[in-house]
Amino acid sequence: MSSPGANPYVKVQDHSITFRNQKSRGYALRNFSFTAAKGEVIGIVGESGSGKSILGLSLLGLLPESAIVDTREVILGGEKILLTSKSDLRKVRGPILGMIFQDPVNSLDPCYTIGYQLKEVLQRNPKVKNWLTEARQLLEGVGIADGERRLGSYPHELSGGLCQRVQIALALAQNPKVLIADEPTTALDVTIQKQVMELLMRKREEYDFTLILISHDLGLISQYCDRTLVLYAGEKMEEGPAVEVLRHSRHPYTRALLEALPYHDEGLLKPIPGLVPDLREMPKGCVFYGRCERQTEMCQTVKPQLTTDGTHGFFCHHPHPVKEQHGASRV
Ligand SMILES: Nc1ncnc2c1ncn2[C@@H]1O[C@H](COP(=O)(O)OP(=O)(O)OP(=O)(O)O)[C@@H](O)[C@H]1O
Ligand code: SF4
Ligand SMILES: [Mg+2]
Repeated sequence: MSSPGANPYVKVQDHSITFRNQKSRGYALRNFSFTAAKGEVIGIVGESGSGKSILGLSLLGLLPESAIVDTREVILGGEKILLTSKSDLRKVRGPILGMIFQDPVNSLDPCYTIGYQLKEVLQRNPKVKNWLTEARQLLEGVGIADGERRLGSYPHELSGGLCQRVQIALALAQNPKVLIADEPTTALDVTIQKQVMELLMRKREEYDFTLILISHDLGLISQYCDRTLVLYAGEKMEEGPAVEVLRHSRHPYTRALLEALPYHDEGLLKPIPGLVPDLREMPKGCVFYGRCERQTEMCQTVKPQLTTDGTHGFFCHHPHPVKEQHGASRV
């Protein structure tokens, strides 16, 4: 890994993922790029299967052998990382990049107590003198009042909400410079969702890490993120300040996602017609072709390039007009 210099804090450039086990290989993620500043909160939003989780897993080198990851450049916490280097990946996991996995219960090891799992992580952190004291403090910090008792519990003895908090504690135990939270609240009921999000934001203030928040929940993205990236079928559709992208979307896919919300202001929710394309049969042009209300013939064959308008960046031949307000003001 190179030492930090004039590099951005987080940069992922032209990141593509395919899977060998697909009969004919299609891109699960294609030329995906983004940057983030220290302490910034970036939201990544998109339909199921759009490539949100594999992005995080690939940066930690946790994808299965069948995955082929091709990247131009990755910088995490100001350091250049070679995803093909096992030693780089070992150094990255924990102190540089932490991840709260999508499934809080199954991502904890069912064979070991919470205390044992925290001990394993904390003993690798050179700044920690006494892992037990630190573990108790971490559990208290994530809102588990009877932390002492919980250290002896196995994951199956905890509720989904408690497992989620333990996962946050595990991710924070190595004080990561960048934290990816993959659907951190999806498995939780609404009251716990808010607590977990507030907790994450408090910890972000305290530790000043960059937070990459992956979520289906546009309300969550609008409330907590500085910037957002919209993904569809493995490709970036739109990016910009979260509120701008969600209030004045330029890309028809972002607009369609918002109109599919049940509390959309213009009345009934409007489902997006059709299905996400099969990775093996992606349209040659725009990947949203076939489901888009604004499509024309050229969209089928000509891939849209990045256009910027000062605030938004988007990939579309026929974007919505600048500052056109639409009916999703409640996100
Ligand atoms: N091990 C694998 N082998 C083949 N394809 C895979 C594998 N893992 C993921 N994929 C494919 O990669 C694509 C992206 O998957 P990913 O799990 O990142 O979606 P996601 O956006 O996180 O969806 P969700 O919102 O449901 O969590 C999907 O098309 C999925 O089928
Ligand atoms: S490029 Fe065409 S098909 Fe794609 S989102 Fe824009 S208008 Fe729709
Ligand atoms: Mg996912």
